[in-house]
Amino acid sequence: VTDRKTVLVTGATSGIGLETARILSGQGFRVIVGARDAVRGPAVAGELSAELLHLDMASFASVRRAAERFSGATAKLDVLINNAGIVSRDRRMTEDGHELTWQTNFLSAFLLTRLLTPCLLRAERPRVVNVSSEGHRAGAIPWEDLELSHGYRGLRAYCQSKLALVLFTRELARREPRLAALALHPGAISTNIWRAAPKPLEWLIRAILPSAQSGARPVVRLAISPEVEGLTGRYFKRFREMDPAPAGRNDADAARLWQVASDSVASFLGGQSV
Ligand SMILES: NC(=O)c1ccc[n+]([C@@H]2O[C@H](COP(=O)([O-])OP(=O)(O)OC[C@H]3O[C@@H](n4cnc5c(N)ncnc54)[C@H](OP(=O)(O)O)[C@@H]3O)[C@@H](O)[C@H]2O)c1
Repeated sequence: VTDRKTVLVTGATSGIGLETARILSGQGFRVIVGARDAVRGPAVAGELSAELLHLDMASFASVRRAAERFSGATAKLDVLINNAGIVSRDRRMTEDGHELTWQTNFLSAFLLTRLLTPCLLRAERPRVVNVSSEGHRAGAIPWEDLELSHGYRGLRAYCQSKLALVLFTRELARREPRLAALALHPGAISTNIWRAAPKPLEWLIRAILPSAQSGARPVVRLAISPEVEGLTGRYFKRFREMDPAPAGRNDADAARLWQVASDSVASFLGGQSV
């Protein structure tokens, strides 16, 4: 029996996540498609000969159930790709009482990673890849109003969540030296994420930008390439390592954010309360 490496990709039903899952499956990896859509999830898993893990990043209960199902079925996870992400034009709240973008793009990625860390640590060279964005450079962490009850704008919430992923990557690398934690900007890519833009702009953008396959390539590289072996806590703009924004290099903020996220998901973390 060959010991195929296992990779879990969240948000694998469209865009960059779908193409990432497709490339990895084509290369013989055991791919787990994390998906919320009851129709496209099974369809994609079938098409890619991958396994399906039902996962709604807007619900902590769903994230925990997914982590439990995964951990029950498989002891070991080699790579976790936190790819699922949204832009929401309107401020919406989840069933858990969090602003939708903050929970989907960041808090649930944090929770999923924490719940799957024991599985990751059973792998020989585990990696966590956080799909962030150059948008993090325009982001800030408004400590007094993380859920943006004042001054909500879709892009503001998005950039904040992407900065949070950069800080999370940094702190995860510090706390889990056996894990490689990497963040990246996959490129400006033609995907459904541009749905949040006004229609004519969406059409224009989607006509001009490179395909989702192009966005998947740097994600796949960070997930499996020996070229990045030994690196952790780093940020990449596609294939090139770069410094993230100064706000993404602040260790005190990274530690503070970890604490905030831990508190937000505390009742879903089980024993792993730190
Ligand atoms: N495209 C770009 O130019 C660009 C640039 C920088 C960074 N990124 C990042 O790249 C990542 C992938 O985005 P994309 O561009 O490929 O966009 P996309 O085509 O819209 O794909 C987003 C994926 O996330 C999933 N998702 C959204 N909400 C979810 C939830 N609550 N639970 C589970 N899955 C959920 C979507 O599932 P459904 O199909 O069910 O909606 C979809 O599979 C995102 O993190 C995005 O921020 C993209």
